[in-house]
Amino acid sequence: MSICRRIRALHPVALPLLLGGCDGPQSALRPGGQDAAQLYLLFVVMLVGAVVLWLALNGLFFYFTRVNQQQFSLRHGNRIIIGAGVILPTVVVGSLLAWGLSIMPSQRAPGDGLVIRVTGEEWWWRVEYWPPGADAPIVSANEIRFPAGSRTELRLTARTYIHSLWIPSLGGKMDMIPGRETVLTLHPDLEGFYRGQCAEFCGASHAMMAFESVVMAPDDFDAWLAHEAAPASRPQTPMQVRGQDIFRDEGCGACHAIRGTEFTGSVGPDLTHLASRHSLAAGIMEVERDDLMRWIAHTRDIKPQVAMPPYDWLDAEELAALAAYLESLE
Ligand code: CUA
Repeated sequence: MSICRRIRALHPVALPLLLGGCDGPQSALRPGGQDAAQLYLLFVVMLVGAVVLWLALNGLFFYFTRVNQQQFSLRHGNRIIIGAGVILPTVVVGSLLAWGLSIMPSQRAPGDGLVIRVTGEEWWWRVEYWPPGADAPIVSANEIRFPAGSRTELRLTARTYIHSLWIPSLGGKMDMIPGRETVLTLHPDLEGFYRGQCAEFCGASHAMMAFESVVMAPDDFDAWLAHEAAPASRPQTPMQVRGQDIFRDEGCGACHAIRGTEFTGSVGPDLTHLASRHSLAAGIMEVERDDLMRWIAHTRDIKPQVAMPPYDWLDAEELAALAAYLESLE
């Protein structure tokens, strides 16, 4: 954001390194919605306040040790201790606490209608969209889409371990706890891509539990959601048909659902519209031929302890056909 650019201009070499985390799709310093903007303002005020306090304290220290070394009367000393050591910190910390608490309720406020239920799995995200009035969810995985300009309610839980959902550019983080439901509501405003990441250590592949979130214009979002609710497209080319046969023969449908087919497994991510997503394997690879082949054959080398076994007995031709079928699931 602009403040980063301004700070960078101050020093051409050192500060860019220091501020490497300012930009990018996963930066709390690049707010894309109301909640992140509030947190960003809180951060800037605290940063500026800390710098001012640091300068003031060191200025006083320098003044009383180098400039004016005369002894204080007991009364004068007590005044400094009570003023700078008790009253000032109480006012500063108390105000920050009150402000911090005041911005928390909006992140639990009721949404404007759309509810997205997200379950933390090992190590991926089960995502279910519940539009107002729906009696069944539209199931997806590893990508969360939001309509811009309204407040969306995220209802969070987890299957086995505690995870934490965090999209730094859109707001604060929230724990996902097995057997409980926690609520986080987000009000994204700027359309675009924002990266999310699990923010609670949850096991071997914690660092590889990420996802894309996409903020869309409300009309685009509605069109996308209608497409997401539709069954999968049928395989067209001979290679895609062969890929679907391999998917069936290898038993992939026992864990993965592809709506509109006989594959109805619910252990792993729903693959109905896999090819329309922007990442594979929870934010760590791309949905394209080579990555799909590599992922299917080497799941546990790429993502330790993941439930999906590596299908390393498939030859290159079979993997390519399987990938072609999955790539057709737009
Ligand atoms: Cu899930 Cu860390």
